[in-house]
Amino acid sequence: MTKNELAKTLINDSVRNLKGYHLEPENCAVKLNQNENPRDWPPEVKEKAARFFVERPWNRYPNFIPDNLKKMLARYVDVDPCSVIVGNGSNEMLLVLFLSFAEKAKSVIICPPTFTVYRLLCDGLGMRAVSVGLDNDLQYDIGAIKKAVEENPGAMLVLSSPNNPVGNTMSEDDFKDILDIHTGVCVLDQAYAEFGGFDGTKLISAYPNLIVTRTFSKAMAAAGLRLGYMVGAADVIAEINKIKLPYNINFFTEHAATVILDNTKIMEESVGMIISERDELYEYLAALPFDNVYPSAANFILVRTPQKQKLFDHLRDDSILVRDVSSYPMLNDCLRIGVGTKDENAKLRESMNIFFERE
Ligand SMILES: Cc1ncc(COP(=O)(O)O)c(C=O)c1O
Repeated sequence: MTKNELAKTLINDSVRNLKGYHLEPENCAVKLNQNENPRDWPPEVKEKAARFFVERPWNRYPNFIPDNLKKMLARYVDVDPCSVIVGNGSNEMLLVLFLSFAEKAKSVIICPPTFTVYRLLCDGLGMRAVSVGLDNDLQYDIGAIKKAVEENPGAMLVLSSPNNPVGNTMSEDDFKDILDIHTGVCVLDQAYAEFGGFDGTKLISAYPNLIVTRTFSKAMAAAGLRLGYMVGAADVIAEINKIKLPYNINFFTEHAATVILDNTKIMEESVGMIISERDELYEYLAALPFDNVYPSAANFILVRTPQKQKLFDHLRDDSILVRDVSSYPMLNDCLRIGVGTKDENAKLRESMNIFFERE
């Protein structure tokens, strides 16, 4: 056995067997493939943050506890700062949550098609996946989730609402019905909460086994900063905080996030624009000869067509990049289209009109 082969055998099988998360880098003028906010922050806001970047010594660690950011975030979410942990994107928060609960929970209830990182962490940590697929309309199958919860006491339940890559939501009443019978932890991923659906953070005082994850990567237009957070009952959060690595967010991200939170009005305007563009885009797409156009409470729309590859290539030739999600369970022939700016959506429509030979 070569040293290289030996090194490979030392890696956990659960990790070696992973497919890994991969995204082909592609450059297109209109980028609608990662559910980002299409509008950047205005230069005057960015300059405020940049000034701090120049003035702040780089040789010193960031704050041990980002108190100011946590306070501002807590005010934004309307919870106590002790209920919040911040991290390097909500992906890091998901990792911290899986690390905290894996050994006790052993199983993870996941509702595919959904965000791939849940299954990645479940498999990577050697947990057992209990899959409860969406129904034929790609909505949560509430009865089947309740059954899975009852059959797997103490399991970790991971839900995403609004759910990526479909855009479906769970109603607050259905969610509460599930939590009423669920004995394990529930992680509710609300990366797209600002675009629609109920606010899970309001339920934390009633359900101490609920942790909600959120992000600055979508509505907050700050995917490049890598900032996410989780909200939960203060005593649960205090325990989870022990496995989070120290200094997990850098001083620039910490400061820039406070500047963003001082300017949430700008963000709210762009979220309003995205919601109205999304609803217009949905009407437009629904009138085209797709097999399905799925209603969405997020900032993207899922479509299904047997011409998926031709349409993807046609759009890319027009420098418009959407996401091929056809390898997800139940999503054969599906593309996920992010909502862009007014101009970008007009370009998308122009290109689609040509593809479908519409006037
Ligand atoms: C449902 C969901 N959760 C979490 C994330 C990760 O976001 P972040 O950039 O905060 O790590 C994404 C990113 O696409 C997502 O769609």
